Amino acid sequence: MHGNLQQNATLLNAYLNDLSSLSHTQIVVCVPYPYLAQAQQMLQHTNIAWGAQNMAKFEFGAYTGEVGAEMLKDFGAQYVILGHSERSTAYCESDENIADKFMLAIHHGLTPVLCVGETLIEREAGVMQMVVGKQLDAIVSKFGVKVFEHAIVSYEPIWAIGTGLAASPVQAEAMHQFIRQKLTQPSSQSESTLKILYGGSVNAQNAVQLFSVNGIDGGLVGKCSLHAQDFVKICQAAEQVCEMLVT
Ligand code: PGA
Repeated sequence: MHGNLQQNATLLNAYLNDLSSLSHTQIVVCVPYPYLAQAQQMLQHTNIAWGAQNMAKFEFGAYTGEVGAEMLKDFGAQYVILGHSERSTAYCESDENIADKFMLAIHHGLTPVLCVGETLIEREAGVMQMVVGKQLDAIVSKFGVKVFEHAIVSYEPIWAIGTGLAASPVQAEAMHQFIRQKLTQPSSQSESTLKILYGGSVNAQNAVQLFSVNGIDGGLVGKCSLHAQDFVKICQAAEQVCEMLVT
């Protein structure tokens, strides 16, 4: 819940100026609902896509205050973040709700960016894979793993979000491997475009190191996306890692 029309315009213009030459990196900006129109107006026909930060679990109807998938699509959104920990903790969003939203997003042609992750207490107790596994199972048990084929999952340890303390490459690699194994059917490996991002205190200093970790396909950036220079550096880090991979 940051930004206003004027600040957003300044930020998006800076992104557009500095990121238009990136050719390997996919960039998506997920904005609060009222700014979808602004994102559409400023970002259409550019290399930056846009999306929302949440979505209703119903298609349409008497759900005052909610915003449905088709409404997001009316404004050109292609992505929607689902299950961010701030929504689960502050708005008591359940894994079951998130599962329904996930399916609805796919049904309407939106790419869900599903956030999963453990608390510090859970990590210290060594149950982080169990916790993340349970979050994924809420979807897998209802809809199978195939629904993840073209989705995005973002591993976001809650203790790393907004704290300045990112997961170490070793911690991130282990969890990414766990998530990928859980969500990839051996038979569909070649068709799957499942991407697994890392989120939680990604910044200009740690981006290259994190993006170089085996199994990390990119980042979900919170605070540093509000500072044009930082976000540009993070995207350039992604581009640098992609270039290393293709050469
Ligand atoms: P952060 O936020 O980059 O500020 O840690 C990440 C997030 O909100 O998922």
